[in-house]
Amino acid sequence: MSYVTAVLPTDQPPLMHQAVDEAVRLLREGEIVALPTETVYGLAANALDAEAVAKIFEAKERPTFDPLIVHLASKEQIDLVADVPPEIAATLKKMVERFWPGPLTILLPKKPIVPDLVTAGLPTVAVRVSSNSIFRRVITDLGKPIAAPSANRFGSISPTSASAVLAELEGRIHLIVDAGACMYGLESTIIKIEPGSPKMFITIVRPGPITAEDLKLYGKVRYASRTVVDEATAAPGQLASHYAPKTPLRLLERPQDFIPEEGKRYALLSYRGEEKDGYLNLCEWEEVMMLSPGNGKLPEAAVRFFYVLRALDKLGVDEIIAEPLHEHGMGIAMMDKLRRASGRYT
Ligand code: TXA
Ligand code: MG
Repeated sequence: MSYVTAVLPTDQPPLMHQAVDEAVRLLREGEIVALPTETVYGLAANALDAEAVAKIFEAKERPTFDPLIVHLASKEQIDLVADVPPEIAATLKKMVERFWPGPLTILLPKKPIVPDLVTAGLPTVAVRVSSNSIFRRVITDLGKPIAAPSANRFGSISPTSASAVLAELEGRIHLIVDAGACMYGLESTIIKIEPGSPKMFITIVRPGPITAEDLKLYGKVRYASRTVVDEATAAPGQLASHYAPKTPLRLLERPQDFIPEEGKRYALLSYRGEEKDGYLNLCEWEEVMMLSPGNGKLPEAAVRFFYVLRALDKLGVDEIIAEPLHEHGMGIAMMDKLRRASGRYT
């Protein structure tokens, strides 16, 4: 199936209203549309319409064992889709008051109204409230929660701009609402809250913009196993091969371990482009792209992360060599993605 994919701008109020109205019209008809969020662009469908949700899996070529996040207009809608266990209710309330709207997704027991396709048959549903006002307006006008994975083809790099969505899904969807670059550039942090005494247990299932440091006020924080063996109980979509560019990528923890092969073309994914980090002079790089040119700021690196990976992937080099990042704050999520892209978890 091939469609003409319209890209509607939102940079002036009347255009924004037109784009929102068109998105809502298509969603009401059971179609899917790409929408901006503060993390990455999402591919949206009415979460309560299984037939519409099925179109997401088709357009992304995503296996149906990989469940979707349900986006709500506000925290008051939690009860529509989830049964909050009384033991965690007080902690949940505090956390959503602190982090929503924002890049935190919480796994909760699902209500039957949520189609099994959305949750891949799991007893839990992943919920969040996006802080992107266009996205929230669409949910409010539609009057239904929205199921939305990142708007890329399965296993590929998440899109942080409308042009990246177009590169992934042109011809497969009717509409992309263009709101420019995403504020965070990395997908939401996914957590699970479990009863514990004296503190609740908070398990980070997928690292993201909300960090362990941010969460520790609300409970004892731990990371889900990174071995990705236990996929059914962690985030099933956190497959070992996820986020991979098509070009082989190697995370090079120590510059001295690099021995360039004769005749091979290499590109460098540099953190800040500083000679003293020891990577710039390792070989004749075909291209060097920096995540945070000059200053090494993790939030800046996060915003550029998927864009730079995408650009490096287009060069047609034999291998992308990635410098490690500081493993704190958003650096944890980026290192997790680089390890996956370099096949470290397989
Ligand atoms: O920032 C984000 O979270 C973006 C924007 C669009 O909201 N969405 C996103 O969705 O990253 P997606 O589908 O690309 O990643 C969602 C992850 C997948 O790894 C999926 O396996 C996991 O969430 N997930 C969803 N529902 C789950 C559930 N009930 N239990 C465990 N993991 C779940
Ligand atoms: Mg994704």
